[in-house]
Amino acid sequence: GNSANPGPSSLAFSELRHQLSQRDAVAEGHEIQLVIRWGDPILPDAPSHDPHRQTAGAQAGQFGYNNDYLDFFPLPQGSKAGDRGLLVVNHEYTNTNLMFPGLGAGRQAGSRTSAEQGAVERAAHGLSVVEVRREGGRWSYAKDSRWNRRITLETPMRISGPAAGHARLQTAEDPTGTRVRGTMNNCAGGNTPWGTVITCEENFNVAFGGEAATAGPQAAAYKRYGIQKDPVYGWRRFEARFDLDQSPNEPNRFGWVVEFDPYDPESVPVKRTALGRFKHECCTHAVCPDGRVAFYSGDDERFDYLYKFVTAKPWNPTDRAANRDLLDEGTLYAAKFEADGSMRWLPLVQGQGPLTAANGFAGQGDVVIEARRAADLLGATPMDRPEDVETNPANGRVYVMLTNNSARKAEQVNPANPRAANNHGHVVEIIPPGAGTAQVDHAAETARWGIFLAAGKPGVDAGTQYHRATSDQGWLSCPDNCAFDSRGRIWIATDGASYTSGVADGLYAADTAGPGRALTRLFYQAPTGAEVCGPRFTPDDRTIFLAIQHPGEDPGSSFDRPSTRWPDFKDGAPPRPSVIAIVRKDGGMIG
Ligand code: FEO
Ligand code: CA
Ligand code: CA
Ligand code: CA
Repeated sequence: GNSANPGPSSLAFSELRHQLSQRDAVAEGHEIQLVIRWGDPILPDAPSHDPHRQTAGAQAGQFGYNNDYLDFFPLPQGSKAGDRGLLVVNHEYTNTNLMFPGLGAGRQAGSRTSAEQGAVERAAHGLSVVEVRREGGRWSYAKDSRWNRRITLETPMRISGPAAGHARLQTAEDPTGTRVRGTMNNCAGGNTPWGTVITCEENFNVAFGGEAATAGPQAAAYKRYGIQKDPVYGWRRFEARFDLDQSPNEPNRFGWVVEFDPYDPESVPVKRTALGRFKHECCTHAVCPDGRVAFYSGDDERFDYLYKFVTAKPWNPTDRAANRDLLDEGTLYAAKFEADGSMRWLPLVQGQGPLTAANGFAGQGDVVIEARRAADLLGATPMDRPEDVETNPANGRVYVMLTNNSARKAEQVNPANPRAANNHGHVVEIIPPGAGTAQVDHAAETARWGIFLAAGKPGVDAGTQYHRATSDQGWLSCPDNCAFDSRGRIWIATDGASYTSGVADGLYAADTAGPGRALTRLFYQAPTGAEVCGPRFTPDDRTIFLAIQHPGEDPGSSFDRPSTRWPDFKDGAPPRPSVIAIVRKDGGMIG
């Protein structure tokens, strides 16, 4: 049900009440349309989904698991209409215990999988490109579109930039260090002004294991990226490249951003190493006044950093092909926040400051492979898990979702991360020079910053910061993804609120300027166990797409006894990660 709206806001919807439910819900006057689910066939000859008899061959032609980043590329290319386009969707990870019958609950299910189940999981990773259309007010996907594509852990890719060919990227399978099979743990992402996708490899550490994790020449580097002796996934038992003792360099070939052209199903994705190797949450572009392009990216780990990359050259708006390798040359920076409201972007350039051969950085390849250690030495600001970073088209400001960091101790607080035991997270607002004008300098090495909101339940959790009229329904916990509508209002999606606050994850909206600034309201509530990803508006603001990820990921939940069977609610069927479209029943603009 809805509750009355308190306080001033440009947002007209009536907010939902917080709850925990097997079903999802949206503000009155709106409609949830199911667009595509895990296992739905998208390639010719792919069979319909049979979760009791799933095969890797079937999965490779079907929509993958755990949809996170989603993007909408209009058709025809360049169109401003919002009723036909390509959905591009990441498939971040697999919930082994929810995908297969008989494995029981818990993350250790990976140790009980068969070789074929491991192959299914690898085919369920990567991305889907699928055409979607709105006809008669209803969204659906086109099974037969010539643009439909699956990218998995088997898709051939190229490696470019400063680490291409580096000795630390060479393996028995690829002695050149320039080719790699597939991408994985693709969390959020972004796009470029020239219409390509950038997908981000985040928690790649979960696939790798072996004795070398704790002994041997790369042990320290493995540790810095969270690689352990016993991996979460079971693949190492069946495929040598996930075994550090057989293929010690394979982890260096993941943790990158990957660029590809969604309008060309034959295009070979490219890992762009100039943007650094870390647990890339996202990659959001902003065009500078001189035509160079900045890309903001968070490294989602407790006490890790916020980064940006600025291309060396301007992009070419009239010749798409001229931008093909723009991401191979430029400067990578890590953020340092000061107490006086200023901040600096510290360049990660080999030979500058501590980034010397004596410190293990013989070339820029070493700097990008060990970007985390390079940023450590430069003194970047340790953050509370940077998730999505997005720019607001209305004011030129940059918003950083810091999801939480319960491990921060009182002596570890800093100006941009001011709460110890930060269970609920916060949102930092960066103001580049020129923000609010048509000339926002995203390439500048300095900026101003402030805290937009500090999450948690007001009056209960310490140190919350919102608009004072935020209601008992409007507060949020664990901001993760965000988007802006064309009026510059922020839409924040959460991940983990059931653990921190006992309420479902959801999508919240607020003004970023005026009397309703930071007055958040609950618009959509997810089914139990799920986080809300995307979000993505169509160019006409009449649809918002959401990726509902890991429904049923609750303690004790399994394929055979799931905490929800969303969205099908069929006896014996598991929950299915799915993309939904939310529209207004009267066809108007959302919000
Ligand atoms: Fe995959 Fe940082 O969320
Ligand atoms: Ca995320
Ligand atoms: Ca996002
Ligand atoms: Ca998260």
